[in-house]
Amino acid sequence: MGIFSVDGVSWSHSRALLRPSFDRANVSDLGQLEGFMQIFFSRINELPRQPLTHTRAVELQELFQCLTMDSSTDFLFGDPIGALASKKYTLGNGEMAFDKAFDIAQYGLAMRAPLSSFYWLYNGREFRKACSTARAQVAIYVSRALRKLNLAEKKSGEEGLGKKYVFLEELAERTQDPQVLQDQVLNVMLAGRDTTAALLSWTFLCLARNPEVYKKLRAEISAVVGVDEDARLPTQAELRSIQYLRWIIQEVLRLYPPVALNARRALHATTLPYGGGPDGNSPISIRKGERIVYSVFSLHRRTDLYGPDANEFRPERWGEEALRRIGWGWLPFNGGPRICLGQQMALTHASYFVTRMMQVYKEITPKDFALADDSYDTKLVMASGRGVHVFLF
Ligand code: HEM
Repeated sequence: MGIFSVDGVSWSHSRALLRPSFDRANVSDLGQLEGFMQIFFSRINELPRQPLTHTRAVELQELFQCLTMDSSTDFLFGDPIGALASKKYTLGNGEMAFDKAFDIAQYGLAMRAPLSSFYWLYNGREFRKACSTARAQVAIYVSRALRKLNLAEKKSGEEGLGKKYVFLEELAERTQDPQVLQDQVLNVMLAGRDTTAALLSWTFLCLARNPEVYKKLRAEISAVVGVDEDARLPTQAELRSIQYLRWIIQEVLRLYPPVALNARRALHATTLPYGGGPDGNSPISIRKGERIVYSVFSLHRRTDLYGPDANEFRPERWGEEALRRIGWGWLPFNGGPRICLGQQMALTHASYFVTRMMQVYKEITPKDFALADDSYDTKLVMASGRGVHVFLF
């Protein structure tokens, strides 16, 4: 039972337990990310160049899933799983590695979600094996973190200086219950890994389809941190200063919110102010205990909020006065007490990866599939149903 799967008092305990670890995470330390970026580039460079155009054809979505698998396991456990480097992930060689187990387990959870209290009906052998493999691996990390904590207590005073931030170790300073630690880190992994990969994937699909946006963003990046041979690694402050990058990310999260559907159960009988009646303008009554599913995807495409071009990708809209007060009309990270704890981290990591990619590649063009209409693969997170097939130059 972790923060995602509990409600009420158990949820407040989880939130109070996890929050300080997020507050203390040093999101501006981008050095670690660059290591993964280098492996990412070398994976792309292994691909053959196309005759005539000299571009490289690549499917980015799967690579981003490997990249965020490595960056999440590094942040959470202090030990990147090596999904990018090993190729195990893409080749799927039958061996149940942590990354594969995690994906199968996550798929099973998505299948269980709509079954509600009949969730146990989805309980195949592969799913059970995947859950136990993922848990067993995390249990090893948990015992290591607890051992380290004991050692650090014995030699108090030595720790802290130049120490790499590891979420699990930080959390272990507040609870030493192995089951709680295991459940909570698996929940944070579930919350942060595929969501960030989806954001990156949709961003590059939008950039490939909109060459003028790519060009404009590359020019802004060039002015701040250089591109090609003049490129230098961006700091967090520099990333924040690239306004067009922020607008693009906001626009991608609007059109393609990774958490596209969400749900709540009513604690008391209540009414929603409108949405009922033949014209949708009457209140709707909600009984106590009733489950309400709502679509963030539809909210983000409402023409009364975003104008007649609500379905179009137009980052410039974020510079317009009308969107300054969008408030609850833009909810990719949700709002209120359960607002995403990793928002800052997700935005920083995504900005870093996008900037680094754009420093290296002059142009990105869509391969046939990327030009077709959108296709959605919606499980726990909404990914692109056809992947992100592009040519990089
Ligand atoms: C683009 C990336 C991300 C998106 C779109 C996103 C979106 C969301 C949303 C919509 C929720 C609310 C869920 C609900 O209402 O039930 C949420 C919660 C949460 N997110 Fe994120 N998230 C992202 C990245 C991350 C990252 C990187 C982490 C951590 C490393 C993270 C950690 C969490 C946690 C722990 C919660 C649970 C908060 C609670 O229930 O109190 N998220 N996220």
